[in-house]
Amino acid sequence: MSGDAGVTQAVILVGGQGTRMRPLTDTIPKPMLSLMGLPFVERQVDHLARAGVNRIVFSCGYRPREIEAYFGDGAARGLEMGYVVDPEPLGTAGAIANAEDLLTEDDVFVLNGDILTDLDLAALVAHHRGLGAEATIALTPVEDPSAFGLVRTDADGRVSAFVEKPGPDELIPGEPYRINAGTYVLTPGARAAIPRGEQVSIERDTFPLLAERGGVGALASDCYWRDIGTPASYLDAHLDVLAGAVGFIPSPGSSWIAPDAQVDSAATIEPGACVGPGAAIGPAARVGSSVIGSGSRVGAGAAIAGSVLGRDVTVGDGARLEDLVVVGDGATIAPGSVVVGPESIPTGASVAAD
Ligand code: GTP
Repeated sequence: MSGDAGVTQAVILVGGQGTRMRPLTDTIPKPMLSLMGLPFVERQVDHLARAGVNRIVFSCGYRPREIEAYFGDGAARGLEMGYVVDPEPLGTAGAIANAEDLLTEDDVFVLNGDILTDLDLAALVAHHRGLGAEATIALTPVEDPSAFGLVRTDADGRVSAFVEKPGPDELIPGEPYRINAGTYVLTPGARAAIPRGEQVSIERDTFPLLAERGGVGALASDCYWRDIGTPASYLDAHLDVLAGAVGFIPSPGSSWIAPDAQVDSAATIEPGACVGPGAAIGPAARVGSSVIGSGSRVGAGAAIAGSVLGRDVTVGDGARLEDLVVVGDGATIAPGSVVVGPESIPTGASVAAD
């Protein structure tokens, strides 16, 4: 998608602690985790810019400096970028209200900073304006809504009900299961409904309040959508890009190796492997369906499958990691160790061989 979606400013929520992504988020905020060599949130910035957005406010909390140091004032990208920082965690709506002073009196896109999607933003705005809604939520289909907030709509595409984590008896046979996809359009009036300086959740507090006065639209689509909030979904996001499933990111092929990574000629890089900048893969090592973080070193004869390594991890010769082992930055896995997941190795830890 490119062109003018009709909304030119956006708030990206990037202040969460990313607890489900520990230890990868011990040293870096979740939106700055790399997706094939670029910070994840930069993919969102590109998507917004292509839709005609020219002003982006990052609403920060946890580890704000990494984000501001990377994007600066946005001039290098031809964008205006600003930053606000929660004085204490303000929640997903409180963090939008905290950005208000950097916004104009116009509609704004709001994005959760951990969603990879090729959503048609222009279609979302058209639906919003067609309804005259105060707020409009993008929806995505799921097979099982029990872990999410189910959003029901009427025939016009207005929200009729929010059902948080529905039990089996709350589901209507045959109804489509659609959840909040973490992308919204908000009018100034909707933003004014959020009390400032307080902890407020947009999902639990603001949207139900606005829906009561009939002001919330919702647009379902079958676009690509993934929440990268857990290590498994972060790994899957890489596999989706390799498979060419994410509309605006071209697939680099069945695997991706950063141009400056060093892969020994006797190593095997299988489909689904992503080897980050400056990483080194030793002789006879085997990497399959895994993310190898920047600067990490995989020793001779080591085998890594279905796992995620942070930055500057050292995997000793002959070690084996498989089935969702998540390794924090700077950790060391001793030669010959075998780690079968699901397992998290803390940031900086040393794992000895058995
Ligand atoms: P978990 O701790 O693993 O649940 O992750 P999280 O902290 O990122 O929370 P969640 O996935 O619910 O957050 C959705 C989006 O909103 C993420 O992009 C967060 O960075 C952001 N976010 C959540 N809470 C806050 C907050 O209190 N302040 C700000 N500024 N952003 C937030």
